[in-house]
Amino acid sequence: MCGIVGYIGKRNAYPILIKGLQRLEYRGYDSAGVALVSDSGELNVYKTKGKVSDLEEYAQSKDTSGTVGIAHTRWATHGEPNNVNAHPHYSQSENLALIHPGIIENYVVLKETLQQKGYTFQSCTDTEVLVQLIEYIKVSNKVDLAKAVQMALNEVVGAYAIAVVEKSNPDLIVAARRSSPLVVGIGEDEYFLASDATPIAEYTSHVVYVDDEEIALIRRNQDVRYFSIANVEKTHEIHELEMNLSQLEKGGYPHFMLKEIFDQPRTLSDCMRGRINVGANSVALSGVIDHRQKFINAKRIVICACGTSWHAGLIGRYMIEELCRIPVEVEYSSEFRYRKPVINQGDIVVAISQSGETADTLAAIELAKQNGAFIYGICNVVGSSIPRMTHSGTYTHVGPEIGVASTKAFTAQVTVLALLALNIAHERKTISAADYTMHIQELSLIPEKVAQALKHNEQIERLSSIFTYAHNFIYLGRGYSYPLALEGALKLKEISYIHAEGYPAAEMKHGPIALIDREMPVVAIAPKRGTYEKVISNMQEVKARKGKIIAITTEGDEMVKRIADYCIPIPDTPECFVPLVGAIPLQLLAYHIAVNKGCNVDQPRNLAKSVTVE
Ligand code: G6P
Repeated sequence: MCGIVGYIGKRNAYPILIKGLQRLEYRGYDSAGVALVSDSGELNVYKTKGKVSDLEEYAQSKDTSGTVGIAHTRWATHGEPNNVNAHPHYSQSENLALIHPGIIENYVVLKETLQQKGYTFQSCTDTEVLVQLIEYIKVSNKVDLAKAVQMALNEVVGAYAIAVVEKSNPDLIVAARRSSPLVVGIGEDEYFLASDATPIAEYTSHVVYVDDEEIALIRRNQDVRYFSIANVEKTHEIHELEMNLSQLEKGGYPHFMLKEIFDQPRTLSDCMRGRINVGANSVALSGVIDHRQKFINAKRIVICACGTSWHAGLIGRYMIEELCRIPVEVEYSSEFRYRKPVINQGDIVVAISQSGETADTLAAIELAKQNGAFIYGICNVVGSSIPRMTHSGTYTHVGPEIGVASTKAFTAQVTVLALLALNIAHERKTISAADYTMHIQELSLIPEKVAQALKHNEQIERLSSIFTYAHNFIYLGRGYSYPLALEGALKLKEISYIHAEGYPAAEMKHGPIALIDREMPVVAIAPKRGTYEKVISNMQEVKARKGKIIAITTEGDEMVKRIADYCIPIPDTPECFVPLVGAIPLQLLAYHIAVNKGCNVDQPRNLAKSVTVE
């Protein structure tokens, strides 16, 4: 989704802004732009449809001087992606320029009022309405920019992070947020602002996470001041960033996605570090220990998430129900928030989100909180909105995930859910001592088993070439492998644009079996655990109709080999951990097929990494 960057200091702002936009490219966008107050006092806006590289080309011959500026990548909501709708937007007098991720919901009414007062509009965006409104308020009330922004935001309904610069005041950026993330980076005699810390990390490790409904006044050579939209001054703790630069680079891999797939043995170890102790035979999440009674007494757990995180949630349900004997429901956040769900005091809502910014999940949390639920977050991005809204939680700690299609965040979410289930089960005494020990030992072996699964990369690459031009795929699994089938299908469609469906293997005969013929590749997840024999029967049904089977199978399994056309082996592990190891071949298969097709693997069309609009 849209991303913003800003800079004020002693250096030339333009290269910093361009680099920042490149760092934000992973969020998904369709146009880019920059506004700079030049050394000669002009407010220059350059913007274009397309990539940041198109913007650079466009601005090549232009005046890119200036030590203050703001920049934006747009993911279209109001108005098609074109040069005019791209941000920044000027105000009528061209004294102000503004950038904005989010949606102004009452923009139609505001636009009509401004039109009646003589304002004209160039674009179809809601954003242009906001910059005009700020100018109108500033001029008609004879107030400064900071006051005008504050007054305007009191009239606005919707979600936003904004940054505004003023031609006549090159020493100030006014930024504000409601429901859209905003981070201020504190350097030496310079400040940065951005939608997340990735563009800031190479310049400073000191950041402030601006709160919801807050305005930041970023003045050259002065301390940043923060005010609520209701005009109450706020103070902020300065946080230390954990991110390092190498996490933002490809490290020799052709794509971030491949790097992140291969990162998983390490990220899973990082995720478990300090939480699982094989020697002491214990699992402890501080987020659970600090609220022990809540988990012991929990009557129900509701998991809310979107996309890949929702698939992790489905796996979490199987784990928690099996080990803790607590009923679990898994909800799409977008459905939960609007369907008047029954939420009881004593319910625990677990919100799962890689970005920690997904608008629907934020809204689901808000609703659950209002109804008295205890909220537990599982997030990756440290300091993002969801962890700051929850009562407790656990970070996945896998570092920035840049590829839009989630890989290492997914396996870490499943790992945290496994730790959560084991920790709660132990507290509630619903797991036997032998099972507890076995699960701890097996979970600690997962990073090594993931490394073994990665060794089949070349075999999967060769296999992928057979299926590059397939039009459809079916993914089948049962038990813990069913949500994994959904995730495998999602990976393929996200990055290769091949239609793929995940299905519980037994349900195939109630519909999808009609699709099976010699043209239909079927990925069957068939580990020698759980309902193994049943899955074999389902594979026979596919074979009888001449479908092509790619089986994910336990190393050394001869039975599946006889039925399937192609086999990708994974190391043996208890059924509940199969998704952690089985995810690897599915991620690699999707990756190689997409590469063969020439798709933009890291930034697939129409998708965004951080979905900050509902
Ligand atoms: C977007 C991303 C997906 C992600 C989903 C939920 O659609 O492209 O990869 O699974 O949002 O995001 P979250 O950050 O809440 O996990």
